[in-house]
Amino acid sequence: MTDSVLFCSERKVWSGEGLVVGNERISELTFRLSIAVDSNFPTVQSGQFIMIRLADDVGLLLGRPLAIYRVTRNNTVHDGCDVVEVIYLVAGRVTSRFSELAVGSRMRLWGPLGRGFDVEFSGRTLLVAGGVGHTPFLMLAEKLRNRVTLLYGARSAERVVPLDDFEQVGVEVRISTEDGSLGVCGLVTELIEQVYCRDELTRILCCGSAPMIRATFKIAERLRLPCVVSLETPMSCGLGLCYGCVVKVKDAADANGWSYQRTCVEGPAFDAYSLFF
Ligand SMILES: Cc1cc2nc3c(=O)[nH]c(=O)nc-3n(C[C@H](O)[C@H](O)[C@H](O)COP(=O)(O)OP(=O)(O)OC[C@H]3O[C@@H](n4cnc5c(N)ncnc54)[C@H](O)[C@@H]3O)c2cc1C
Ligand code: FES
Repeated sequence: MTDSVLFCSERKVWSGEGLVVGNERISELTFRLSIAVDSNFPTVQSGQFIMIRLADDVGLLLGRPLAIYRVTRNNTVHDGCDVVEVIYLVAGRVTSRFSELAVGSRMRLWGPLGRGFDVEFSGRTLLVAGGVGHTPFLMLAEKLRNRVTLLYGARSAERVVPLDDFEQVGVEVRISTEDGSLGVCGLVTELIEQVYCRDELTRILCCGSAPMIRATFKIAERLRLPCVVSLETPMSCGLGLCYGCVVKVKDAADANGWSYQRTCVEGPAFDAYSLFF
């Protein structure tokens, strides 16, 4: 395994090869991929992501962004390597190739990238996640533990991923499914006000589909709660160079009142009040 440095628009970024040491299905269309890299993977902030691709496939030169779920340092089972875990939904061309990867396959990855969440937070945090939207939150949950409630929504029981990593660190987990096959029947956003009425919530963090993010923000706005959303804008370089991932943000300093920011550098976590919904 080799590693090197890439130049992001603002800083150096670790880049290297890793070996797949696990790639197991955890729900109908979702897999957990574990990659062993040399034991110098940089420190990760909760909410940051990596760009990842197959090492040998020149047809798939561009990486895909995936949130970093967890990093286990100096893993003794894997010769003292660091093991980077991601969780992915089979969504299209590259992730369906990932789902066929065998242990021992070589991957290229670069990161950690982007800005994540503030974990130095004393209040009570509500996490709202749909599908694989829980993935950027585990490291935050490990830090804030029983000051966190996770509301997790999926279409049906077959799509619900295991959430015991959250429960084990003391997070309260509540599940909803659209067809009622597991947990509360309905949309995950319908649970927000129930928890709000019970707890002294001080902020909401959200990651999932665009409609879910929009609905969560509208509720946060009505309840006058701070709200941070993690966006899954498609990316090419992940390094701030191509401007393929820009989103429109409110900008009082700009004559038009808005400007563009790159999801891969200024995000993926954005103050929801700065975005246009
Ligand atoms: C910061 C960040 C973090 C992320 N973290 C995660 C994560 O932890 N887990 C996870 O599963 N995903 C995550 N994503 C999303 C993930 O990157 C995408 O699902 C992935 O890149 C899809 O790649 P693909 O090649 O498999 O799919 P693609 O082939 O690129 O297709 C993706 C989707 O776009 C549609 N599509 C493709 N081409 C077209 C077209 N021409 N016209 C219309 N629709 C089209 C496909 O039908 C599919 O629904 C994250 C994204 C970002 C930006
Ligand atoms: S993906 Fe290239 S600038 Fe963000």
